[in-house]
Amino acid sequence: MPSIAMQAFVVVMIILVVVGTLFDIIHKKNVKYFFDNAKKSKKSATSTVSSGKKISIVLKTVASDVLTTSELAGKRRIAHLLGMYGTIIFWVTSAIMIFNYSTPESVAPSILPLLWHIGAIMTCLGGYWFWFFLRADVAAEGNPWYRVIKADLFVLSLVVTATFGLVWSYLQAADISGWDTLFLVLFSLSNIVLFGGVYWSKFAHMFYKPGAAIQKHLGEADGSRDNLPAPTDKQEQYGLGIKREAPRHY
Ligand code: HEM
Repeated sequence: MPSIAMQAFVVVMIILVVVGTLFDIIHKKNVKYFFDNAKKSKKSATSTVSSGKKISIVLKTVASDVLTTSELAGKRRIAHLLGMYGTIIFWVTSAIMIFNYSTPESVAPSILPLLWHIGAIMTCLGGYWFWFFLRADVAAEGNPWYRVIKADLFVLSLVVTATFGLVWSYLQAADISGWDTLFLVLFSLSNIVLFGGVYWSKFAHMFYKPGAAIQKHLGEADGSRDNLPAPTDKQEQYGLGIKREAPRHY
């Protein structure tokens, strides 16, 4: 396959993400809501936060909420970290190989394809774990694992893309001619669904979540708390019974 075709494919995928996210922002008005709400809750601030403190809050949020997904706990957090870092490694190594090492005479350093495979495997581990066992509608609401709804578009297209990539790689290594081309086509199509589906899927949460986490921590620092009351410690009065069963009955 000519390098230019692969490079053009990557550029088109990036454009799809940008356009999909912009349409999402316009349609849901979520960014407008976010800024209006931030302005409104500022009025109930009880203290002023200095610029230095704000920078430190932003850095701490990036280091904790974003880089370690601290909003999630336990298995959910491990599954998300596997999927998130796996995907980032998969995307970054794909881009490096496509833009620097995709001509027949170029030789990619062996670490790159190794990381590409590790990234795809991590994405599958985190994604399938989430899909089969952790999804709220399956883990807590008793729906069967094979129930598919529109909200599953992101996680499914993500894991299916990584799976097709791995199968395509295996078939090339095993030199099973014809089948590898089929899986290259399936791999390309699943990428188009993943990146072309941003408007309908949860893809853009990776851009929104960091902003929301920063706003939440700034609100905690200036006392506005998004106009919500401070957390109570009252449940401690109810004894250990409250810890007897995990809250799974949404
Ligand atoms: C490359 C980056 C990322 C990838 C590939 C990714 C992947 C995913 C996937 C597949 C899901 C499950 C979606 C579903 O409910 O069907 C998810 C949910 C979630 N993500 Fe991400 N994510 C990324 C970045 C982030 C970031 C930066 C944050 C936070 C700052 C974040 C926070 C969350 C949260 C809180 C959930 C809900 C989890 C749950 O319901 O258990 N994600 N993410």
